[in-house]
Order: sequence, then structure tokens, then C-alpha cells
Amino acid sequence: MAYLLLIGVILISALFPLGVEPLSLPQGVARSECRSRGFWFWIDKNFLGQKVWQLEAFNSQGSAISVTDKIASQCGFTITQDVYGNTEIRVSFLGCSVDNMADRQFSVELQLQVTEGLGQILSYQLALTCNLDDPWNPREIICEENYVEVSVRRDVPGIANTPMNDWLAAWPMARDALSHVWQIVFHFPNGSLFSTPAKASQQWGYGINTTATRIVFRAPYNTSEFHLVEANGFHIAVIKTTVFYKQVWLVLMVDMAAACPIDPPIFQERALIWMTPLVLSPLMVSTVFHDGGVRMGLDGKLIDKSIMTQNSYQLSMNSTAVAITVPIGAPGGHMQSDVIDNQYGTTYSIKLLLERKWWGDGSDDTWHAAHKPITTPFMPHTPVLSNYTVPELGYFEVHLGNFFPDVELVALDVANVPLTPASARIRGFYLSENLHINGSKFYILHVPFKDKLVQKTHLSGKVMRYTLYVTYILTLVPKNKNFTITGVIVCDVPDVVLPTFEGSCSKDRLILTMSRGSLDRYWLPYVRELPLTEALVQSQNYTVQEGSATYRLAVPPLAAGLVYEDITLRGLRVRLDFSLRDNTTLAVKTTFSVTCHFPTGALLVCLPNRTMVATVFGLDTRPAFDPRRTHLRDRNCRPTEADELRALFVFSLSSCGTSRRFDSNYLIYENDVTFEPEMMPIAAPVISRDSEYKLTIQCRYSLHEVASVWLERNVSYGGSRALSANVLYRSRARALRKRAHHPQDARLRMATDGTYTAFYSEEDFPVLNLHTEPLFFQAELTIPHGALSQTLMLQECWGTEGPDPDDAPQWDFIVQNCPVKTPTYETLLDPVIIESVRQRFAVKMQSLGVQALGQVFLHCSVSACSHTRGDTGRCRRSCNDTEHRMGSTLSGLGQQATYVSLGPVAFQTEDQVGLSHMEDEPWHTWIWIVAIGSIVLLLLLLGGMFFSTSCNCQ
Ligand SMILES: *[C@@H]1O[C@H](CO)[C@@H](O)[C@H](O)[C@H]1NC(C)=O
Ligand SMILES: *[C@@H]1O[C@H](CO)[C@@H](O)[C@H](O)[C@H]1NC(C)=O
Ligand SMILES: *[C@@H]1O[C@H](CO)[C@@H](O)[C@H](O)[C@H]1NC(C)=O
Ligand SMILES: *[C@@H]1O[C@H](CO)[C@@H](O)[C@H](O)[C@H]1NC(C)=O
Ligand SMILES: *[C@@H]1O[C@H](CO)[C@@H](O)[C@H](O)[C@H]1NC(C)=O
Repeated sequence: MAYLLLIGVILISALFPLGVEPLSLPQGVARSECRSRGFWFWIDKNFLGQKVWQLEAFNSQGSAISVTDKIASQCGFTITQDVYGNTEIRVSFLGCSVDNMADRQFSVELQLQVTEGLGQILSYQLALTCNLDDPWNPREIICEENYVEVSVRRDVPGIANTPMNDWLAAWPMARDALSHVWQIVFHFPNGSLFSTPAKASQQWGYGINTTATRIVFRAPYNTSEFHLVEANGFHIAVIKTTVFYKQVWLVLMVDMAAACPIDPPIFQERALIWMTPLVLSPLMVSTVFHDGGVRMGLDGKLIDKSIMTQNSYQLSMNSTAVAITVPIGAPGGHMQSDVIDNQYGTTYSIKLLLERKWWGDGSDDTWHAAHKPITTPFMPHTPVLSNYTVPELGYFEVHLGNFFPDVELVALDVANVPLTPASARIRGFYLSENLHINGSKFYILHVPFKDKLVQKTHLSGKVMRYTLYVTYILTLVPKNKNFTITGVIVCDVPDVVLPTFEGSCSKDRLILTMSRGSLDRYWLPYVRELPLTEALVQSQNYTVQEGSATYRLAVPPLAAGLVYEDITLRGLRVRLDFSLRDNTTLAVKTTFSVTCHFPTGALLVCLPNRTMVATVFGLDTRPAFDPRRTHLRDRNCRPTEADELRALFVFSLSSCGTSRRFDSNYLIYENDVTFEPEMMPIAAPVISRDSEYKLTIQCRYSLHEVASVWLERNVSYGGSRALSANVLYRSRARALRKRAHHPQDARLRMATDGTYTAFYSEEDFPVLNLHTEPLFFQAELTIPHGALSQTLMLQECWGTEGPDPDDAPQWDFIVQNCPVKTPTYETLLDPVIIESVRQRFAVKMQSLGVQALGQVFLHCSVSACSHTRGDTGRCRRSCNDTEHRMGSTLSGLGQQATYVSLGPVAFQTEDQVGLSHMEDEPWHTWIWIVAIGSIVLLLLLLGGMFFSTSCNCQ
């Protein structure tokens, strides 16, 4: 028999030894069912997973044969997947290796060879026995996925009335064939024929066999004998064959034509439609067509009307076409997620079956079944991120959906911080997976506004903008494909507590007290345009007290950064403009101003509009001068306001003879307030009871960029009076000196160095001295050399911080002719005395003392000693002579000495603060040069009451 030959072929490919007892598959892994004309097996996808496996069938000798694609289509096997991805194996009842009991009962035994890890191969058994439910039809055609099978009843049919051209064409071949032969004749559309013995056709992939009652022919779709027929706009794949068997006196010829509709389904937005021609014309043997009914099925099983209605399937038919319409997503099929280019989407798969019956004019009933697995193209499905935030609840609520159950959330990324679902929950997020009734799922996420990962932007007033940047990282479970969904959720909530302010004034401070709100700690404090930095606080004596609930700022009235609203002798009106700014944009968030009145005291203010304001006091000299009669360098610049005690000058830096100069990094504006004594006219010597007074006032600006200062129109200046440093070393208490000031008798000068060749002039003061360099002084008598030979007696020298010799504290340099040595300074008397009318001494500062002393005025009490009376002993200047010391002391107390002064000598200037802030607008670049306008008092007290004295040595 021909099928024995086929077995022979299959035998060659027998690969596995016999005798290995196959295992049965674990419980629940495999399922099997008899459906219509075949055995159906399913093997769970999780069981096979990524493992390598193959299916084996047994030939009649019991040898296992691997079921390749070719053998499958030849032997009636279909190895595919169900819509859920499980392996599906279908075997035709008429297939090879099926144990066929008179075409009524069928048994099959297969084995699954699964390669486990380490190459171990396990065999599992699949076996099923089925009974025929519906009796065989005379002709049955099954359009399978990988082959078409036609089987025809083998008993002798009734006599057909119509001539059958195809058969007649095949007849000569049958007639000429050898006896005892099965042969196939292929008919081509052009009428040509090709005949081949059954055995040979098997080599080309065809399957042919006979069973108890039927002849079976099986053809894979890809053979060259298949051809395409177009009918009513439909495409049909057709293979036309005649199979005959010849015996000596008998020729049996069977029409084995097969045809399958092959048009692809039509995909619409919501449905798919599979259309086939009602009449498969190539299969018609007569012109008469009797419809025997059309039915649809799923997965190889017919379904009844109620299920069709329930699932909204439609089977419609007119004179030419049969259409099955299935809504996408309908039950029976399977929706599957997929990701393409990070786009989430779905495909829908369904396995349709269309069964039909018809007959012509005789007993030529045909039963036709077509299996149609359909998978829709990828349908992008953009999940929706919905904002369900209720601002009052204090958190974002975001829903993300909808997904099919094969999607899982693996991670979140909030503001670029990756979080697993577990770590998000630990952080205080709420995250849940929820199901809709239809089985799709969505995620709910709550993120508290207060979480650090939520961006907070203060908009204005009380409104805070909370922004959540979230990315969901999801994965398709079996496919292990990741995709992400990103969203930005914004919520504006009026939940900001703004700080409240209170201003107050103390004797010498403007005080701002802020009760903190919810945001001010993130903002930057500013005083006017100046950021309130540590440097500003330090240099300008601001006091900042930061508490958790309050913030207190106290500013002295002459500090940089203040606004002087009004300056008169009655008082100052000073305003502190405080603001808080955003720490990135510097936008002003809130402002508050404190205005205070202060009495006008000693004052030097350099105002932003390039105006200098200064006060002078008549009591600065003794006797007091009249402030009303003072003027600036330009004599026309008189006080803006004055009374008998004080005068107030307000003048522009570009007027009144103000000079301007550079001193390394400083720009110094300088003017003098001068009081000119009223001279007694004509008579000489000139006698005045008035003091001579000159106050040099300066505004000093630290220049970071000198060029900018001069190029910019919008330069603003602020400044205040410089103050001297503290004194560490204090002199002991001393007896109040009684002195007369006779500067015309004697003078004190300061030499530029130890050679005493050059001296500083009056205009050079204040002299700035490097802290390591000693100071050199020379006291001298100015009485012209005459008959009397006089010696200068330098009794005492001391320093004061101010010009007044009686100022406290005082530092002694020479006490009763003796130089003083202290930890901070040391006085050295020059031993080389060239002329007795002068005496020299040097003061050497220790580094410690330099910090202690800011500036110093030097005063010396001197007397002249006449040698003419022969009392030279009294003119001795030795300090070691105890007797003279005592005498000196007594004489010092007993007589009125003359004193001379000079100064100030500055040892160290105050550290300058420079603050610069560039604003964004280029045309409005403000260079803030905050200088400490340093007042340098130059009080030269000359003249006054002068009495010529000579040393009346006793
Ligand atoms: C032919 O059919 C018989 C049952 O009638 C079956 O046992 C045999 O395996 C089949 N052989 C082939 C090659 O299809
Ligand atoms: C039959 O139905 C198909 C699709 O529903 C349609 O295209 C065709 O025109 C119909 N034919 C007739 C004759 O109504
Ligand atoms: C998917 O994302 C998770 C979490 O970010 C990651 O661990 C995993 O490796 C990703 N898988 C793929 C296939 O990219
Ligand atoms: C989210 O919802 C809140 C509250 O309803 C609303 O204020 C906000 O504007 C919404 N955000 C977005 C991005 O839609
Ligand atoms: C700062 O305050 C101290 C003490 O009150 C004072 O000695 C110093 O001169 C002040 N400095 C300035 C720049 O006001």
C-alpha cells in the first residue's frame, strides 16, 4: 500500500532510540479535546517557556519521528499557538500515525521532547482517542493553517448526469497506467496535466492515503500545483487533482480538488471582518448549487447563535458572500499588550472557523471547513494619566490607565529619582493597582505636596505651585518589554503662610522683626539692593537673630544700605528697606520698611545720589567755635542748617570744591569744613580768642572696577562714617594735667623715617603708618636763637584717640623724661642729641598693639630750660637720675607746661566691604560700591590763646 511507502520515508528520519518510557505531563499543563475532525492538544506556555522542544509521532513500526514543518503539512499536523500563547497541536483524524478504527474511532499517541537545562531531554506523552461525532460527508475539505486536506468516500458513487471534463482528461492516463497503481493527476489552469505515482508526490510534500472508507489527499499551500482563482472579487487558492487506482479490470477515479478562500480579513477601527465567497466555484461539479448552511466557530468548534449574540459576532450572507464580523476585543478572542517604540498598544487575536455544506444535483454533498487565525495589527493605545488632585487634601492624586492585565508597574521615576513601588510606599506615597469591571487595570498614585521630590514654586501672594514630574516604568509581563509614561501634574494651592513684619526703633538701631511664614526660610534677605551677607552684617554692625519662629534684624542708623529720607539738625529720618527674594530668580517676594528718627549727632553720610552729608560741632575745639561761620573749601558753600552748637552740610560730590582722588583701590572724595577765626584787625601780633578749626571729611569708595565707576551713569554710593578700632591697652589713671597750649613756642613734628631728614607737613595728616614701622618724632623749640641759650625739656608724651589731649584713654610714651615700654609699644629716646633745642624719639609698635590702636594723636608737654642762669643741672634730661625725676615731677606739677600735638597717625584702616550685585537687565547694571565713608578728623589746633613763656627755673 502507498501509505507503507510513506512510512518507509518517515522511518529514515527516525532519530530517537526506542525504549525510553515517556513521562506524563504534570497535572494541568496539558489539555486535549476532540473537535470535529481532529485531535486538539494544548500545552501551557509557562511549562514550555523558552525551552527547546519538538513533537514526535510514531510510525507503524513504533519508531518516533520528529514532526517537521514538511511532515506536519503532509501528515495533517498543525503546530501553532492559541490566542493566549499556549502551544496548540492539532492532528487530523485522517493524519499519519493515527490509529484509525474503521473511520469511527481514532487514537493518537505523540511525544513531546523537551530539552531541559544542561541538555537533558525529557519525553512527555500526549495521547487521545476520539470517536466520530458527525458522520463523514461524501466529500470533506478542511482548509487548515498549513495545509488543505480533502477526503472523499471510497464507495462507488451514483452515476452523474453531467459530463466531467476534468475526469475525461485524466482518463487516458488512467487507462495507460500500470495495473495495481495509485496515481495522481494534477490539473493546471491552462488545461495541461501532470501525472505522478502517489509515492513520488509524497516526496514533494503531498500526502495521500486511504482509510477504511476514504481516500485522503493533503497538500501544503506553497506547492507549485496550487493556483489562485479570482471569483466575484475574492481570491481562492485551488489545487485540482484526480486520484485513480487501477486494477486489471477496474479503474477508480476520484476528483480530489480542494479550494480555500485566502483573502485577508478587513480591519476596521472597532471590528474585523472576514469575508469569503459564498460559492467556492472551483469545487462545483455541477452548475446547481444547494446551500447546506453556513456556520461559524471558534478554535475549531462551532458555536451556537446564543454565544454569537452574546459576543456580538455577526455572520451575514448574501448571494455572493459570507461575512463574519467580530468586534475587536470581543470574548472568544484575546487582547494582548505590546510595545513598539515605547508606545503601548494592543493586538487582538481570534481563531475563526467557517463551516459550510452544499450539494449539487446528486449525492455530491460537500462539507467545507476553513480555519482562520486572525491577529489585528498593532493598535496604539495611549494610556491616560488623569489628574484627580483635590488641593485641600494636600497630595497629588494621579490615575494611570487603562492597561490589560499583562502590564505591570515596575518602577516610578519622580523628579529623576527612581523609586520601586515598595520604596515609593516607604517614602509616603500611596500606590495601588486597581481593576475595572471589564478586567483592565489602572494605577492610583498619591504624592504628598510636601514631599521633597515635588517641585514647589511660589507664584505670588499665598499661591504655591506644586509640580509633580512622574514617569511610570511599566513592563509587559511575558514579553519583558518596558515602556514608560511621563506626566507633569501641576496644582496651585493657596497654602502659603506669608511672614509678618513689625518695625521698631531703639536709641541707636532700626529694628525689624519678622514672624516667620512657611517659605521665608528659602528666600534671601536683602536690604535695598544689597544681599544681606555675613560680610555686610559684620562690616556694618547689623545684628541678625534667626529663630525658628522669628527673625530680627537691627541696623545702626549710619550703616550702609539705609535710605535717609530727611536729614536736618533736628533729626535724621532713616528708612530700612527690607525685602525677601526668591533664591533663584531673585524676584522680590515680600518687602517691609522700617523708618526711624534719630537725633543728629556726629554724622557723615555719603548718599546714593552723590551727596555728602556731614555735621560739625562747635564744641570740637576749645574754646568752641561758631558752627554758623563754617564753610567748605568753596567759601560759598555754607551750612545748610546751623545753630550755635552744630552745622549741617549737605552738598553734592561734584560741587563745593570737593576733590577726588584715587588711593590704590579707593576713590576718595574729600572736602574740608573750615572755621576761620575772627582776627583782631591791624594790630600785630594777631590775637584771636577763637580756635582755628578744620574738619576734613571724606567719602571713600572701594573700587572693584574703577573703569565701571566712571563709565556707568547709574553708579550709586552708600557709606557711613568709619569708626576707630577698640583699644586693648589702656593707660593707668593719671592726674589731670594743667597745661597751656603754646604752639608758637614749640612744635612737634613727625619724620618720614629714622634719618629725620624729611617731615610730614600738616596737610599730610592723617598719616597712614605701616604697622611694622616705627614712628619718628621730633619736638623742638621754635624760639629764635638769641642771647638766651635754651634747652628743650620733653617732660611727657602721650597719645589719645581723638585730638583732645585730655581724651581718655591715653597711652603714655614718655613719662617724666623716661621712655615707656609696654607690651604693645615701646618708646626709644634718641641718644644722639645734636642740638639741645630739639629732642627726638621713636615709638615702635608691637604687632598686637597695631590691632589695638586705630589712630592716635600725639601730645607732648614741653618746657624750655635756660642755661644762662647757670642752672644746667636742671636742664639735664637723664631719666635715670632719681633726684631729678623727683624734682621734675614736682616741677611738672608746679608749673604750667606747654603742650604740642600732632595727628592723627593711623595704624590700620577699617576693613572695607565691597558688595556688588549685577541685575539681569544689562542696561541697568548697578555696581554697588559700598564704601565706608571714612571720616578722617584732622584737627589742628593752632593759635588760640598764646602766651609766650620761658622756663622760669627755680
Ligand atoms: C494511512 O491511514 C492509515 C489508517 O487508515 C494509517 O494508519 C496510516 O498511518 C496512514 N499512513 C499515512 C502515510 O498517512
Ligand atoms: C454581499 O455583501 C457584501 C459585503 O457585505 C457586499 O460587498 C456585496 O455587494 C453584497 N452582494 C450583494 C449581491 O448584495
Ligand atoms: C525594565 O525596567 C526595569 C526597572 O527600571 C529594569 O530593571 C529592567 O531591566 C528593564 N527591562 C528591560 C527589558 O529593559
Ligand atoms: C490638577 O487638578 C487640580 C485640582 O483640580 C487643578 O488645580 C490642577 O490645575 C490640575 N492640574 C493639571 C495639570 O491639570
Ligand atoms: C560696630 O559696633 C561696635 C560696638 O558697638 C563699635 O565699636 C564699632 O565701631 C561699630 N562699627 C561700625 C562700622 O559701626
